[in-house]
Amino acid sequence: MIEINAIKCHIGGMASITIRNLDESTKQALRERAARNGRSMEEEARLLLAELEQGAGSVEVAASGRPQAGPAVAARPSPEPAISGFPAAGKRVLLIISGGIAAYKSLDLIRRLRERGVRVRAVMTAAAQQFITPLSVGALTADKVFTDLFDREDEHDVGHIRLARDCDLVVVAPATADLMAKMANGLANDLASTALLATNRPVLIAPAMNPAMWSHKATRRNAESLRRDGIHFIGPMAGEMAESGEAGEGRMAEPMQVVEKIGELLDTRPKPLKGKRAIVTSGPTHEPIDPVRYIANRSSGKQGHAIAEALADLGAEVILVSGPVSIPDPKGCEVVRVESAREMQRMVEAALPADIAVMVAAVADWRSKGEAKEKMKKEGGKGPSHLELTENPDILKGLGHHKQRPGLLIGFAAETEKIVEHARAKLERKKADWIVANDVSPDSGIGTTEGGVMGGDRNRVRILTREGVEEWPELTKQQVARRLAARICDHLAAVTATA
Ligand SMILES: Cc1cc2nc3c(=O)[nH]c(=O)nc-3n(C[C@H](O)[C@H](O)[C@H](O)COP(=O)(O)O)c2cc1C
Repeated sequence: MIEINAIKCHIGGMASITIRNLDESTKQALRERAARNGRSMEEEARLLLAELEQGAGSVEVAASGRPQAGPAVAARPSPEPAISGFPAAGKRVLLIISGGIAAYKSLDLIRRLRERGVRVRAVMTAAAQQFITPLSVGALTADKVFTDLFDREDEHDVGHIRLARDCDLVVVAPATADLMAKMANGLANDLASTALLATNRPVLIAPAMNPAMWSHKATRRNAESLRRDGIHFIGPMAGEMAESGEAGEGRMAEPMQVVEKIGELLDTRPKPLKGKRAIVTSGPTHEPIDPVRYIANRSSGKQGHAIAEALADLGAEVILVSGPVSIPDPKGCEVVRVESAREMQRMVEAALPADIAVMVAAVADWRSKGEAKEKMKKEGGKGPSHLELTENPDILKGLGHHKQRPGLLIGFAAETEKIVEHARAKLERKKADWIVANDVSPDSGIGTTEGGVMGGDRNRVRILTREGVEEWPELTKQQVARRLAARICDHLAAVTATA
């Protein structure tokens, strides 16, 4: 058997190769190596080229027996993802683009996936090529684009069966009414439909069509069959169609929605909080004075939302009760939106029972006593109106004394002085298990350019438990969230072990 270095010598020094043009012995060695590793010959050659590029110059290129340059089948290695932490990073997606007007969205989808470290290989139907070109798709995937079932070269190098299986997920975006009909009926008369019939991988489709086509009985039947066959769907969404004057259900989901669904389907990270239910509060509350004015604070919701998402990432079922914020909903959580402290308390208690409760919201301590029904008027010469305040319910204390008290109750304390002393008193008074204390004073030195801890992206916290105080370094709010979620996991595991 020929050594790996010999194969490298044959393909080395070239930006791309055509396997067909390799000499027989090299081809055989490549075939055996690919079979051993469960990869296609093309995939194997690509990895060898990637290795070569990484150790550039270390492999001598043989003077003779060098293959002819041909159309690109091997591509550049995947670059480092520009966006880290995506659950499907390093996974491979076969993207099938069919011929709908939403095909342009697939270009953005490829970019979004690649910047998250997902490898994308594309198949285009003949109709798709009427809308976008294989050239632009190939430039974005940095790979060959497959278009023809009967291409001798592709069939030799990869083969339609390998193409359908050398991936972790097949995504059809956009999925036309026509391709859905073929899939539902097992037709295989072009490369896209044949790959879909031959694949043994999960399939996700993003239908996109005119609302009349989507609501047609034939499409309804096909969609129903596909769901029964275990095909995953994202969309279609309701809204304006690309054709002017048309609106309704049929729009392709936005590329980022497809990306999120792909992340969900390919997420194989451990889920130690699976089966646990968590309630998280986040953001400020707005306490009405009259129909147009309210009392509020500077909380942005960034820390609470990040904690909700970190718990959901670890498999918890998360109900996020959020005050008014202008940041996106965290992924994987059920979000309940409220305005005032009283509403927040009602919704938190309605979400009980829970294993974990993390009360992060900056709930207003006071509200206006007697909300004015009409807008309060400025009456000339009388000076400002007198605003009488009354105390709001204490949500954390309410939970600490509740008959359905969550198993682990965590409160947040935003303090500007005597941080530990005040947080310790809060822990006792409210019957919480932990208090996460943060210094929100202007001289805390955190996020001074972003407006401080409240509203900023960084935080430095202390965790007070009945056992002591942990000082955490200054971190991003996402890091605090992930660390807290991991700390919660460890605590619950220890409790289970001693039970
Ligand atoms: C301008 C134009 C836009 C189209 N948009 C869509 C569409 O959004 N969704 C759809 O299902 N079909 C659409 N079609 C029809 C498909 O292109 C046609 O059914 C084609 O045969 C689909 O082939 P494919 O499924 O192999 O890609 C459109 C046709 C034209 C001419």
